[in-house]
Amino acid sequence: MPMMSPVLRDRFGRAIEYLRLSITDRCDLRCSYCLPKGFKDFEEPENWLSLDEIERLVRAFAGLGVSKVRLTGGEPLLRRGVVELARRIRSISGIADLSLSTNGTQLEKHASALKRAGISRLNVSLDSLQSERVRQIAGRDVLDRILAGLRAARGEGFSPIKINMVVLGGINDDEIDDMAAFCIEQGFVLRLIETMPIGEAGRQARYQDLRPIQERLQARFKLVEGIVPGGGPARYLRSRDGRFSVGFITPISQHFCATCNRVRLSVDGMLYLCLGQNDSVNLRPLLRGGASDSELESAIRAAVNLKPERHEFNESPTRVVRVMARTGG
Ligand code: 5AD
Ligand code: SF4
Repeated sequence: MPMMSPVLRDRFGRAIEYLRLSITDRCDLRCSYCLPKGFKDFEEPENWLSLDEIERLVRAFAGLGVSKVRLTGGEPLLRRGVVELARRIRSISGIADLSLSTNGTQLEKHASALKRAGISRLNVSLDSLQSERVRQIAGRDVLDRILAGLRAARGEGFSPIKINMVVLGGINDDEIDDMAAFCIEQGFVLRLIETMPIGEAGRQARYQDLRPIQERLQARFKLVEGIVPGGGPARYLRSRDGRFSVGFITPISQHFCATCNRVRLSVDGMLYLCLGQNDSVNLRPLLRGGASDSELESAIRAAVNLKPERHEFNESPTRVVRVMARTGG
């Protein structure tokens, strides 16, 4: 008889197959919707899970049926040993897909090593193609470095490369067509994201409903429904010639909780079951208290059972007090 692959299921019947690892909560940028300027409440280094601890946890998740992992942050390329960690995770049996979300500022120097370590898919945050706007939104003048990082990544053959653009009403919503043209020219997938009220910074962001933007793009580029590897919660549209794909991530205007397949681990070992809720389980005491593999597995199963049915951003916009960099974008 063939071995059945295990499935980790929550109490609403959703299969959990995707683990997102925020491997540092630090960041070299201060995007207005994510990290407040002057934010100091970063996790103490003694609480950071070591590479060994992260690897052990991923192994436990893989044993329970998780097959996809994403490295995120904060800015994951600021974590020392990130390439080594990628290599170790990629070699865990059962992990079929390893991806990275980055702000791109350090990508130029790491692109080649990351590719060799087994990362295949890349998401790069880029909210504007105008340097002054990038400086305004992200707090530093880093557009050229991000573009250099993207060039390097393209040269390494990452596929797909997705550009995450958080759409901010009155700030960058006039740049969507420019960004589309840039992505078509470069062969990148564009993803437009609605801001979520996560932490004070997220709540102060200028929310923009993406539905009218979607209708406009659909008409302008004659888009049809599309599928992109690692699609997740985004709904994709593409041009008929396949040169342009655009995804819409609309947690506020059209939430997608019924198909949520993920949990998130923060750098200090807290497992968060939902971006929009506070439910979490601290796995660090188990890792550091000599728990056996089966104790670890039971704790993960019990945690997954706490996964809430949905976020309540609309009903309770002030609920999530942690900053986005803790649980990862
Ligand atoms: N709302 C939506 N997305 C956010 N991100 C960070 N903060 C927010 C927020 N408040 C996401 C963006 C960014 C990634 C790192 O995290 O997609 O590109
Ligand atoms: Fe850093 Fe990303 Fe947050 Fe911007 S959105 S501050 S790049 S973690």
